[in-house]
Parts: sequence; structure tokens; C-alpha cells
Amino acid sequence: MHAETASAQVAAYLQQHETKGLLRFITCGSVDDGKSTLIGRLLHDTKLLLDDQVSALEADSRKHGTQNGEIDFALLVDGLAAEREQGITIDVAYRFFGTERRKFIVADCPGHEQYTRNMATGASTADVAVVLVDARKGLLTQTRRHSYIVKLLGINRVVLAVNKMDLVDYDQAVFDAIAGQYRELAAQLGIEHVHCVPLSALRGDNMIARSPQMPWHDGPALLELLETVPVEQNDTEAAFRLPVQWVCRPNQDFRGFAGTVVAGQVAPGDAVVVLPSGRRSTVSRVVTADGDLPVASEGQAITLTLADEIDASRGDVIASAAHPPEVADQFAAHLLWMGDERLLPGRPYLLKLGTRTVGVSVTDIKHRVDVNTQEALAAKHLELNEVGVCNLHLDQPIAFSPYERNRALGGFILIDRQSNATVAAGTLDFALRRAANIHWQHLDVDKAGRARIKRQLPRCLWFTGLSGAGKSTVANLVEKKLLSLGKHTYLLDGDNVRHGLNKDLGFTDEDRVENIRRVAEVAKLMTDAGLIVLVSFISPFRAEREMARALFESGEFLEVFVDTDLAEAERRDVKGLYAKARRGELRNFTGIDSPYEAPDSPELHLRTAEADPLALADKVIAALGLDAHDFGL
Ligand code: ADX
Repeated sequence: MHAETASAQVAAYLQQHETKGLLRFITCGSVDDGKSTLIGRLLHDTKLLLDDQVSALEADSRKHGTQNGEIDFALLVDGLAAEREQGITIDVAYRFFGTERRKFIVADCPGHEQYTRNMATGASTADVAVVLVDARKGLLTQTRRHSYIVKLLGINRVVLAVNKMDLVDYDQAVFDAIAGQYRELAAQLGIEHVHCVPLSALRGDNMIARSPQMPWHDGPALLELLETVPVEQNDTEAAFRLPVQWVCRPNQDFRGFAGTVVAGQVAPGDAVVVLPSGRRSTVSRVVTADGDLPVASEGQAITLTLADEIDASRGDVIASAAHPPEVADQFAAHLLWMGDERLLPGRPYLLKLGTRTVGVSVTDIKHRVDVNTQEALAAKHLELNEVGVCNLHLDQPIAFSPYERNRALGGFILIDRQSNATVAAGTLDFALRRAANIHWQHLDVDKAGRARIKRQLPRCLWFTGLSGAGKSTVANLVEKKLLSLGKHTYLLDGDNVRHGLNKDLGFTDEDRVENIRRVAEVAKLMTDAGLIVLVSFISPFRAEREMARALFESGEFLEVFVDTDLAEAERRDVKGLYAKARRGELRNFTGIDSPYEAPDSPELHLRTAEADPLALADKVIAALGLDAHDFGL
């Protein structure tokens, strides 16, 4: 018992020592503002400081019997591992330096082009942001946008570095004016703590030590400021949360759930709940590489074993049973769009939050935010670097916390399903309640019953291709043939559906996404009614065709690519629309000034140049395997 208390004290001490005196910060500004010079000088000058201390540190670590020398390294690696875990493939260099009083990790985000993307990555783990401005230029648009993002990502403390003071003759009036303007901006944004330092990174004024050039400044130099600013707990969540990173099962007798504690503490005997399933159990052991712990807290990597044989897998959250996080599948969220292609509401993306990845779509862009004025502006899509307030709909419920309470359980990224690129960073604001009040109604008559009396297997035949490729011609022949075989069908044709259900939609990318979403849902209902449904829509985007496919059971959805050269479709031009588009009288015409993304691996590939429509229709009928439809009745 006594030994256990002692080891608890050692563990607590180690934990404290590991995180004590660590400040993570990010620098915002461009090369022109002197960002590289500033970081370079900090690294260089503190390294000189540090050299003097290394021997002292070594002696210290021997005295305490800890692996002090390695702690720094681990911290550095941890930071990188966390990024990898987020699946972010972004160019952020973490630089590590230290003084006697504190250790520092600075997220150095290079580049102009994708600066916002890099910055968001660095900011999501930072305690403090150092915002650089050039004393000659004052606040710029980019200062405003960086400050907005800093606040959005939960940083509440900014150090305003007014650089190049040497180029304005160390003039106090210049500094005071800029500092005053920035404090106003910070107040507007709700950034609570602002420290302003006049400096010259190049000349070293007010960098490591106070500069005699600016005796009028009574605050500390930059480094001293960074050494002494308080590091607040950004996350206010106190109850235990562990996102499961992996399930550790080396043999039949051991099953542990490994991950990093993102809030609270855990000890053997604690009652926990696994979310989203809601299964409850009690903690048996808290295992680490260095043996079992009597208690583990935030930031520690552990493996939990539970008293009951319950299921949990990667992406689940194990949490305090008394104070569990919420579980939901619809959210209001802030999104910072980083994709080269714009965000389209309704398009399916992947959402990665902590260790969990689920399908998601933006159901609604409430508004976009002008980051210069904080104004809310109407928006139908989001472009690169735009910020929007959106509603999200997830495929599955997840355990979460609002970002302002816990960054790890409220911060997420969106991933493009086709390219695997990170296209957005976001923060969950709150769960939308409406979903919680709608439950699935069980009905006694089901798809199988409806299909059985029709003596057929329901199917969705999805015809895609350019306008004039022959989709409707072939689909029409297929339906005629099916009818003559006694099958129950319905043909959903783009032009026709656009006369009714979808008459409010045009041909912008956004409208086409919604057009396909609706018709896919209708096709699903009709399949559920037991029908063989034929859908004949251009459906130019892969992402939406995949969304449609995902609505159906395996084998139920057949993608039929009706493949005709653009030149051939244009030569036929049955409706005269290509000619109009060429004359510029029709905008966003598929193949002309709007893209068509051909299917990668359709179930059927019909080349209209090689066969006549009747033969192609026969191919489709053959693919249905109608013999199997006879239920032996
Ligand atoms: S989709 O791209 O959203 O799937 P859909 O199949 O519903 O298109 O409608 C395409 C039909 O609308 C075409 O066959 C054509 O007759 C007509 N149309 C009118 N304007 C356009 C346009 N800009 N692009 C493509 N088709 C258009």
C-alpha cells in the first residue's frame, strides 16, 4: 500500500515535470514581416543560453533519477504524432528550444500560398500566438484574418510583435498607435489577453533582452514574455475521456484499449461508459510501458483494461460514466475551408475527429464570415480560405465535446473522399437537437415482401453520361423490355424530374449535387417499394454517384456508363443545346464549361459508337440476371 502511494507520487511528479514550463506557440506573419528572422534569432540565441545549462540539466536529471534528457525529445515527437493522428499532411515544422524557465515548441508554418491551412494545423495545439506586424505597415488584412483564425481555434492569448522598429527610428508613437489598433481588434474578436512588444528581430532589440534603444517601453523583451506568460488550461472539461486509438490484444487473456487521455483522470475501479454504444463497465487496470498506474491524467498515453468483456474499437470514446460526453450526429460547426475545390453542401466527405472517421455532409451553410469585418454574409458554397458557419450531418453518431470545452473532442478535419486531401479544419459548436427527436418507425411490410409479390429483385440501374450520349434512349428500351417480361419498373429521367420535384434547381455545381441527392433518395424509396428503378441523369460528379451507391445494399446498385465522345454527342445535338452552349447562350453546360467525371469502374460500360441501342439494352437486361428473380413461385 505504502509502495503504491509512493509510486503515485512519483508518477504525479513526473507528469508535472513533463508538462511544467512548456509553452506551445505559433507565429503568424509572412516572411516580409520578419517571421523567419524572429524564429531564427530565438532558436539561435536561446541555444547559446541552453548550452550553458545542459550540464546543469544533466546533473539535475541524475539527481532525480528521471530521464530528463529524453522528455524533451518525446514531447517533440508527441506533437508530430498528434498531427499524423489527425491525418493532416501539411508542411508545419515544429521547432523546439528551451531556457532555464521554460521549454518551447514553436509551430513554424512556412509558405504564402497555403498559409491558412498550415496555420490552422499549428494553431490547434498552441497556447499562445505571436502575431507579427511590420512597424512601417501596421495592421494588414492578413493580421486580421490570422487573428480571427487564432481565436477560432481557441487561442486566447496573443503576443503582438511590432517588428522592424529600427526602421521607424524606434518611435514610441508608431508603436502605441499599432498596439492601440490591435487591442481594439482583439476586443472585437474576443481575444482576452494581448501583450504588445516593440522589437527588431534583425538587430536583436527587445528579443532576448530589453533594448536600450527603446527605454520608453517598460514591458519585458519577447523571450522573457514568452517565459512568463501564464499557460491557461484551454480545455475546461474535467471528466475523464479517452478516445480509443487501438485495441491491444496480444493474447487471449489480455484485452486493452490504448489511447491518450484527453481530459480528466482515470483510476482502477472507476465506472466508465463506452460511446457511442453506451455499454458500461469498470476500469480494472491502467497499464503503461512502465507498468501499471494507480491513476492517469490528461496527456498520458495508457492502455485500459475493463472488468467486463465489452466491445470497443478504434474511434470509440471511453468516458466517465457519471459525466459522459454527448453523443450526436448533427452539429452546428465552424469550418475553415482549405480545399482547392469549393465546398458543396450535400457532397459526401469524411470527417475525422480524434481517432474516429465517419461520413459527413454539410446540410446547410448558414453564412460565411468576412474575417476582416466579422460580418455574416450569405453563401451557397465556400471557397479556399473562407470561413463558414454550417450544419453537419454525420453518417453515424459520435461522442464529442464543444471545441471550446475540449479541443481534442471538438476539433475535426474534413477529407475529400476521392483525393484523400484535407479540405477543411473545423470546430464543433453544439449538437442539433432536431435529430434526437426523430426516430425510425418500424413498419411490418418490408422491401422483401413488396418485391416477392412482384416476383423480382429490386435494383437501381444508374445511367450516367453526357447530355445526348443516349442514356434515356437505352434506359427507355430497357424499361420496355422489362415491362414485356412482366417486371415492375420506374424510369426517373433528369429532364422529367427537373419539371417537378427538382424544378427549383439549375445547373451550378451546388444544384447538381442537390439534384442527384434528391433523385438518389427517391430511387432508394422506389427500390424499397420493390421496383426495378432506372435513373437517367447526367450525374457528372463521381462523389455524388458514390453517395447514391452508398444508399443501396450491396449488388443492388448498377452503374451504367453510357459512353459517347463529346464530339459525337455534339454532332447529334438533338436538343440544340450544345450549339447554344458554344454560342455562349447557355452557361455551365456539361462537357463545354462544366466538367464530366467518367466512372472509374462502372458495372456496365456501354460504348454507343460500337453498338446500336437495342443491343446495348440487351446487355443491361443480361446484367440483371433475371433468371435469379424467379422466386420459385
Ligand atoms: S445533372 O447534371 O444534374 O445530372 P440532369 O440529368 O438532371 O443533369 O439534366 C440534364 C438535362 O438538362 C440535359 O439532358 C439537358 O437536356 C438539360 N440541360 C439544360 N441545361 C443544361 C446544362 N447547363 N448542362 C447540362 N444539361 C443541361
